[in-house]
Amino acid sequence: MNDLLGKHIVLGLSGGIACYKAAELCRALIKEGATVQVVMTAAAEQFITPVTMQALSNRPVYGSHNASGFDAREANGMPHINLSREADAILVAPCSADFMVKLVHGGADDLLSLMCLARPVDKVPLLLAPAMNREMWAHPATQRNMAQLSADGATILGVGSGFQACGETGDGRMLEPAELLQDVVAFFQPKLLAGRRVLVTAGPTFEALDPIRGITNHSSGKMGFAIARAAQEAGAQVTLVAGPVHLPTPRGVQRIDVKSAQQMLEATMREADRADVFVATAAVADWRPATHSEQKIKKDGSGQPPVLHFTENPDILHTVAQGERARAGQLFCVGFAAESHDLVNNAQAKRARKGIPLLVGNIGPLTFGQDDNEMLLVDEHGVQPLPRASKLALARQLVAEIARRQHPTTSS
Ligand code: C5P
Repeated sequence: MNDLLGKHIVLGLSGGIACYKAAELCRALIKEGATVQVVMTAAAEQFITPVTMQALSNRPVYGSHNASGFDAREANGMPHINLSREADAILVAPCSADFMVKLVHGGADDLLSLMCLARPVDKVPLLLAPAMNREMWAHPATQRNMAQLSADGATILGVGSGFQACGETGDGRMLEPAELLQDVVAFFQPKLLAGRRVLVTAGPTFEALDPIRGITNHSSGKMGFAIARAAQEAGAQVTLVAGPVHLPTPRGVQRIDVKSAQQMLEATMREADRADVFVATAAVADWRPATHSEQKIKKDGSGQPPVLHFTENPDILHTVAQGERARAGQLFCVGFAAESHDLVNNAQAKRARKGIPLLVGNIGPLTFGQDDNEMLLVDEHGVQPLPRASKLALARQLVAEIARRQHPTTSS
């Protein structure tokens, strides 16, 4: 993906052991299409060399030799102005406790803090990735400083938890480069669903026959996870009810793991009460074994296979769509149809049968487990194709379509 194509990021490093992760972060930002200008404090140079950061960013680094804030090599001699005017965002990673203090007080005795102070607040966002010992992080002074920085318009990207370089374990580690990358990408996405609550089902279900075996399908959950991520990036509060899949939870998404269709129904009904949008991508098993054996079903030596009886599973989407809130227009329901042929007719018929305003059709066998797809949006007005793209790109388009239907006045 090139989610940061055309974006110019000033990556600021203040002093902390997490500087070693800034090298990987710089690379990740560039791989995603951004250009990166590195600015380091003198303390950061104690942890990682400007040579490393120059090689990775492919640009000379502004470092301790610019400590006075002036640079005779620039026409106006003022890198703090030039750097901050060019940037689409300034990202300070790691942001030490001490650097936060500087920002809170508008300190400007090194180029990085000077540049943050000189940035046009309404045009150049400031993103901070704190990194410090868990006691420093939990200290009321740090928490107070963070609250002040948020009030002053900075975006705090949060911290990770776990083993720290000092040997202690707790909150305060800098987020991993991949997590910071996701946060930066999300930051630039339009906030089309700000304040909305979105509920997504994803993955297969597993219908147990006995403690060992069960019935499931090949759904990878990738599409549903991509939709959860896209909705979260668009500013929604997202709950993802996931069947058994091995996918990482998108950043900022609340995940509820379930196995069977019955469990998926229960979790979904609980959450649907406060959702504004419901997107059903799960490949729910149509049938479950009528009885569940507590013990492994054994061969009995007769050569006769066991006789299995099945019961139909509840249709989760249909149940939610028939609920009071959906019928009153307070819960916008979106379904998926994985067909093997005659997509348009089957998808239109399914939309009507499920009683939902929007249905996404795709060719099932071609999409399961893949990273890309092509889809068809079917609504009361007709059919709109979404050409082949990554599942995340399609998810973002779908989110935009949902948002447009939520706020018809902003439609193009
Ligand atoms: O009827 P069919 O399984 O083809 O419908 C697919 C759509 O309905 C998907 O959105 C799927 O998540 C949803 N569904 C459901 N509960 C079921 C079966 C399907 O929510 N039991």
